[in-house]
Amino acid sequence: MPITFIPEKKIFKLDAGSSSCVLRVWDEGYLLGLYYAASVPDTNFEGYELREWASSFSPRNEILGERYFSPDIVPLEYSGFGTGDFRKSAVAVRNADGNDATDFRYVTHRISEGKPAPAGMPATFARSGEDCSTLEIDMEDKTTGMKLTLVYTVFEDLPVITRFARLTNASDRPADIEKIASASVQLNAMDFDFIHLYGRWGAERNLVRAPLAHGHQSISSTRGSSSHYHNPFAALARRGADEDHGEVYGFNLIYSGSFDITADVDYYETTRVNMGINPDGFLWHLDPGETFETPEAVTVYSSEGLGGMSRIFHRLYLNHLIRGRYAREKRPLLINSWEAAYFDFDTDKLVSFAERAKEAGIEMLVMDDGWFSRRNDDKSSLGDWWVNEDKLPGGLGVLIDRVNALGLKFGIWYEPEMISPDSDLYRAHPDWCIHVPNRANSIARHQYVIDMSRADVRENIWEQMNAVLSKYKIDYVKWDFNRNLTEAGSALLSAPHGEEIFHRFVLGTYELMGRLVDTYPDILLENCSGGGGRFDPGMLYFSPQIWASDNTDAVERLAIQFGTSLCYPASSMGAHVSMSRRTGFETKGNVAMWGTFGYELDPNRLSEKDLEIVKKQVAEYHEYYDLIHYGDLYRITDPWDNAYRCAWEFVSEDRREALYTQVNMRYYHCPTLFVRFRGLDPRKIYTLESTGEKYSGAFLMNAGLNLSDYPRGTGESFKLHFVS
Ligand code: GLA
Repeated sequence: MPITFIPEKKIFKLDAGSSSCVLRVWDEGYLLGLYYAASVPDTNFEGYELREWASSFSPRNEILGERYFSPDIVPLEYSGFGTGDFRKSAVAVRNADGNDATDFRYVTHRISEGKPAPAGMPATFARSGEDCSTLEIDMEDKTTGMKLTLVYTVFEDLPVITRFARLTNASDRPADIEKIASASVQLNAMDFDFIHLYGRWGAERNLVRAPLAHGHQSISSTRGSSSHYHNPFAALARRGADEDHGEVYGFNLIYSGSFDITADVDYYETTRVNMGINPDGFLWHLDPGETFETPEAVTVYSSEGLGGMSRIFHRLYLNHLIRGRYAREKRPLLINSWEAAYFDFDTDKLVSFAERAKEAGIEMLVMDDGWFSRRNDDKSSLGDWWVNEDKLPGGLGVLIDRVNALGLKFGIWYEPEMISPDSDLYRAHPDWCIHVPNRANSIARHQYVIDMSRADVRENIWEQMNAVLSKYKIDYVKWDFNRNLTEAGSALLSAPHGEEIFHRFVLGTYELMGRLVDTYPDILLENCSGGGGRFDPGMLYFSPQIWASDNTDAVERLAIQFGTSLCYPASSMGAHVSMSRRTGFETKGNVAMWGTFGYELDPNRLSEKDLEIVKKQVAEYHEYYDLIHYGDLYRITDPWDNAYRCAWEFVSEDRREALYTQVNMRYYHCPTLFVRFRGLDPRKIYTLESTGEKYSGAFLMNAGLNLSDYPRGTGESFKLHFVS
């Protein structure tokens, strides 16, 4: 069993793959986080918690008397607010007396096989009854009667621990949760760099790395979605750790709403990482008997640098998060109409796209925004999900039949969480959008956000979507989300529930998205949010792929894809070849092939030469599908470290095959370019497919190859395929 409890020491030991985490129930029921790092066989952690340095500014616990114990000094595993630990607390509950002093102590625990999930929220799952074990630690605040359960799941073969918290009001008076972390992680050092992914529209998920210093460093969203600006991912890399070496902790929240990840370095040089729903804009009312569960947090430990961390996240998400038919089945290669036509299309134009796409071997046509109601630009019609027969005479059936007759599948675009003020739905139900009384609603992209917290609103949107999806043969849905929440209120939520709207909105979205994938398990769902504005593991639970960015320029995409790959697998990264100006078709294809791969252009504008390149890319899509989608990623040269080129490599899980891709961002003016490959089996003999030359894995990894004869011009690229 990867989770053990040693009663005489009151120690829990969680052995997750190559990592160990040790918790201890100390005197008076304080729960301490003693160790989290590489796997250790020992349980001899006596003395770890003794920190006899309490001063008059760190209150002493009277009961423990002479031992100078202070909650402010020991590594409290899940610290309450206002009861002696002045560092960032994990939980604060305002009780019926009006104060928020919070203090949870250990009561009991359970260890079981398998894995629970927080109610109504996406979460990782066990694949068999035995590949996960779960520890649930029950705690209580005796003064207020609140009960807390900390849930830890250990994945046996991966250095991953997932965590969430469950809080029940077991008192006879109401209470309000002011904050509640999904995970609080105690590390007894501060020599870490804080790494995270910041971005903006068109430039999502850039890597930032800065040393931790005393104080707090956080990333967050208050937007009601995970956002373009910060991703709910952070890592702490031991100072000096790099892509291939050293200790790295990865943190990812399985949540698509406002979040916060804070690293708090205290006065005694230890670090606490809290992650969860952002307390800004959150207050949850609990009547007696009611329970609240947090989203799930994932923590990963890697002793093989950032690359090792990424491969662990990728394996976890491929095997334990992404669901449905297309988690493992090959996805149809698509062409999307957005950059080809924007709102300006009709049946004939779309069919002409499909005809030309078919010549190249493309397998699905996706009709993007603009097919419904009076949607001829972005100023109207969201919420009115009926077909615009001016554009599509005879309706969707005629179009789909013609596309299907060519042998292509068909996909469609929706933005279910939005409503245009200029829509029949808004005119009929002006209170169905997110709003607060007596305050004008901010408008963004000419639209308001629909009130997903309301079951009646969700029902209406579902009925409209279902009317289309049940009638026509639709193989793919792109679910978009093009603005953030402001004036966040619901006509149905008043005090004391008013501030629950942000989280209830997310729960409503999950419910509707869940209904879609449960009712239509054969539909391939792709999430999107103005490009990659909601690229998070919550969304990945519903859709195996997410559009990574509206920026389809092959060179700018490099940074976006490198950043995204820190946490998310290639199979999840929506990536298309477009008509963007820079680089030729080969390079556009080589870059998009890192992701889900597809096209977003008018195929009738392709020259015969480019069409031939597209045909070759389509063949490569099939040839390398398994290697890229399910293989291990090695980032060889990233866009932040090297101004000349980017390079990455996929290695199959059985290490029999590898694909190296290099893109030059600038002309490389040098006679030597030695590249050492990674992740190969040193004993295997690999053949470089293009030359027939044979090399041992040891040679390729240690001596490497001089690639200076390969294309070196700006915007040029190439691939090397090794097989053994
Ligand atoms: C967003 C998406 C695009 C496209 C448009 C349609 O910006 O990111 O891919 O679907 O909406 O309006």
